[in-house]
Amino acid sequence: MKTLILPTPESAIKRAADIIDHTVRATPDTVLGLATGGTMLPLYDELAQRHREDGLSFAATTSFNLDEYIGLAPDHPCSYHRYMAEAFFERVDIDPTRTHLPRGDAADPHVASNAYETLIEEAGGIDLQLLGIGQNGHIGFNEPTASIGSRTRIKTLTASTRQANQRYFASFEETPRYAITMGVATILESRKCLLLATGEAKADAVARMIEGPLSAACPASALQLHARATVILDQAAATGLKFSEYYETVHPQGRDRVFD
Ligand code: F6R
Repeated sequence: MKTLILPTPESAIKRAADIIDHTVRATPDTVLGLATGGTMLPLYDELAQRHREDGLSFAATTSFNLDEYIGLAPDHPCSYHRYMAEAFFERVDIDPTRTHLPRGDAADPHVASNAYETLIEEAGGIDLQLLGIGQNGHIGFNEPTASIGSRTRIKTLTASTRQANQRYFASFEETPRYAITMGVATILESRKCLLLATGEAKADAVARMIEGPLSAACPASALQLHARATVILDQAAATGLKFSEYYETVHPQGRDRVFD
C-alpha cells in the first residue's frame, strides 16, 4: 500500500484531488468509483473549484458510487443520491446519465445489486475507486466480518455505523439499518484504489488497515491485496502507525518518490 502522510487535512484533500485531477485530465473517459461521507465533502468542494476555475472537466467520465441506504428514494434528503447531486454532480459538468448509485428503493434489492455489478462490468470496470474508512474499518458498507470475496449486495449496518451516521437523520431509530454496497471483491477489482482518511478518530482503523493482519474483522485490510492502492492521510489519522518514519522516508510530506 502506498501510504502518503500529509501535514494537515487541507493538504491531504489537495493531494487526493491532485490524483483525481491528473487521472481525469490524462484519461477523460475515466470510470470513477465514488464515495460519500463527511471526509469526502471538502474533496468534492476542491474538485468543483478546479472545474470552475481551472478547466477540470468530468464531461466524459462515468461514475459508480459505493453504496446507498435501502428504503431511501433518490430524492430523499438523506439519500446518497441527494448527497452526490448536491456535493458534486450539480457542481460539475458530469453527464447525469453516466452517474450511477445503487437504487435503495428498488422493489427487489437483490436484483438491483446484481444489476449494479453488471453495469460496472459493461462500463469496462472501475479505473479509480475513491474510498473512505469507517471507525470500525469498513469500506463502502462492508462491515467487519464482510467476506473478502463479496460482491454488491445487501448489508446490515452495525450499530456503530448507524450511530456515526445518525447526525444526518432525525434520530437513531430513523437511521437506516440496511444498505446496498459494492462488495470487497468488487472494490478490489478496481484498477486503482484511493483511500482518504483524516482526523484522529480514524487512526485506529487506519493502523489496522495498513499494518494489521489481513482480516475480515477489518474489511479495509483487504486493500493489502491490491497492487495499486494509495492511502492519503493527515497527521492525525496517521498517529496509530508503527512504521510512519518509513512512509515518510519513501514519500516525504506525501510526495511521490523518485522512482514513481
Ligand atoms: C460512503 C462509504 C463509507 C464512508 C465511511 C467514512 O460511501 O462508503 O465507507 O466512506 O463511513 O465516512 P465519514 O467520511 O463520514 O467518516
